[in-house]
Amino acid sequence: MCGIVGYVGSRPALPILVEGLRRLEYRGYDSAGVALVDETGVSVTKTAGRFHVLEQLLDANAAHTHGIGHTRWATHGAPTNINAHPHTDCSGRIAVIHNGIIENDRALRTYLEQQGVSFRSETDTEVLAQLIGKFYEGDLEQAVRRALRDVSGTYGIAVVCSDEPDVIVAARKGSPLIIGVGKGEHILASDAAAILAHTTQVVYVDDGEMAHITPDTLRLTTLDAIPVPQKVEEVEWSLEQIELAGYEHFMLKEIFEQPDALENCLRGRIDLRAGTVHLGGLEERSRELIRTKRIILTACGTAWHAALVGEYLFEELVRVPTETEYASEFRYRNPIIDDGTVVIAVSQSGETTDTQAALREAKQRGALVLGVVNVVGSTIARETDIGVYLHVGPEIGVASTKAFTGQVAVLALIACYLGRRKHMSPAAATQFITALSKIPEQMRGLLNVAAEAKEVAEKYVERNNWLYLGRGYDYPVALEGALKLKEISYIHAEGLPAAEMKHGPIALITEGMPVVCIATAGSQYEKILSNVSEVRSRGGSIVAIATEGDDKIGLLADHVLYVPDTLESLQPLLTVIPLQLIAYHAAVLRGCNVDKPRNLAKSVTVE
Ligand code: AGP
Repeated sequence: MCGIVGYVGSRPALPILVEGLRRLEYRGYDSAGVALVDETGVSVTKTAGRFHVLEQLLDANAAHTHGIGHTRWATHGAPTNINAHPHTDCSGRIAVIHNGIIENDRALRTYLEQQGVSFRSETDTEVLAQLIGKFYEGDLEQAVRRALRDVSGTYGIAVVCSDEPDVIVAARKGSPLIIGVGKGEHILASDAAAILAHTTQVVYVDDGEMAHITPDTLRLTTLDAIPVPQKVEEVEWSLEQIELAGYEHFMLKEIFEQPDALENCLRGRIDLRAGTVHLGGLEERSRELIRTKRIILTACGTAWHAALVGEYLFEELVRVPTETEYASEFRYRNPIIDDGTVVIAVSQSGETTDTQAALREAKQRGALVLGVVNVVGSTIARETDIGVYLHVGPEIGVASTKAFTGQVAVLALIACYLGRRKHMSPAAATQFITALSKIPEQMRGLLNVAAEAKEVAEKYVERNNWLYLGRGYDYPVALEGALKLKEISYIHAEGLPAAEMKHGPIALITEGMPVVCIATAGSQYEKILSNVSEVRSRGGSIVAIATEGDDKIGLLADHVLYVPDTLESLQPLLTVIPLQLIAYHAAVLRGCNVDKPRNLAKSVTVE
């Protein structure tokens, strides 16, 4: 996933592009570049490496009032100077930046080479730039439109041309684009983070749409040149929500934000007195939803772990068969979608390609599709039939933390919403939402476990293999804890249903191997204790996540991090926090880039 920024107006473009790209660097950061445009030509500066490498090459006094900029997460061609964006056509008049994948780039490259075009880079984006250049006859919008007719794949692009020095042409298919509306200026970007310092008034570009942008005009059309009505909307996030606010890393900030984020997520959605849940985004199709005979949850990565908690919640509270599918598998597996099937797509960014494709597959097979998404106005949010936003605020750190707890909380709300309209008694629903409403305050107290989590990280940071064990609702949390450690500290870790140890993985246990066991009070507590004993008898070092007041676990574990007691079905909202903190501190101790881990991007908008 890459970061795109464009500016056209009356102010110097470069400071706006630089500040915008810096805020988008979390989206992709192996190379970066800008193109500044005026009637004399297009001036491109680009380089491999982090954004600060580019900044040193830029002319801070550039007076251009029109330009585009890009931070890259490589998909075609290594992260090199030549492969960095922007890419120009052979005339040098046209520059393009691109987020996505042109799937027929080889065929187009061959065709253009046969027309005499010589390529400088390995990228699919240069193919697009050359194709636009080939069709350019004095109308940039028309040339882009004609070129995109030959293209298959995904794109979010911005195109400039020195013959039309106050125009940006943008187009979107599968990769997000948003346009900030200012006074006598427009700012194009991949997401609101690059725009918020200038305006909160935005227009979303939808898939299949193009935008013709000048300082004073904004025109949306389809690829077939049919005008599209545009709606100016207010972005609900503030700039400070994007800033670090004194924390060393966005990830740490977002771990500590979870109590407030969860309060925002629950606000206005639970009625303790009536024992009901209000979810306005479901009302339109609630009767159909209530009659569902089968629920399929689909997602990727951390969102998939949250979805797995949702599976347990739906089967317990709604009593409807529920399964959780990796989106990448679901989309190609020829899934069975029968009458009464509801598919729930879970995604923080709302832009994950596999999850988008899975929901489209489900829709065309007749499912009612529900979105559980954080980013308002994102593709998945707009393509699902109904949905519930997380409202946990922007998540900047690549490793998902508050989005996980937000996703679990929203799935808990939906499960209670449906359960209450099916089998749940008012008393049971009141008990559930009362417990849920207490979680944010319980989280606040729990965050004091940070010091103990740091001690665990310090003790085992040199160990290269960890295990995470959990049962029932804590099994998905074991998976999530392992993923957190892997993706930011690069330590290998595996999450398992605790009982699965004896079917093979117990062979891995060596002296002192860190094994994190989620052993909270609940229906399987005695069982997990025996798993802990099995590990201990083979020399493993036990890091237990246990319920406050448990005086047995300390006899077996080398370390115990206590969490407050709550309903078994809500434990994931609390047990995940020590695991997030352990992973965070291990990454810091290993000198890893916590917010921008190697090889990763915040949202995976490629297959
Ligand atoms: C989790 O820490 C990772 N960032 C990754 O697994 C992420 O959860 C996954 O790519 C799904 O992203 P989404 O929620 O934006 O769809």
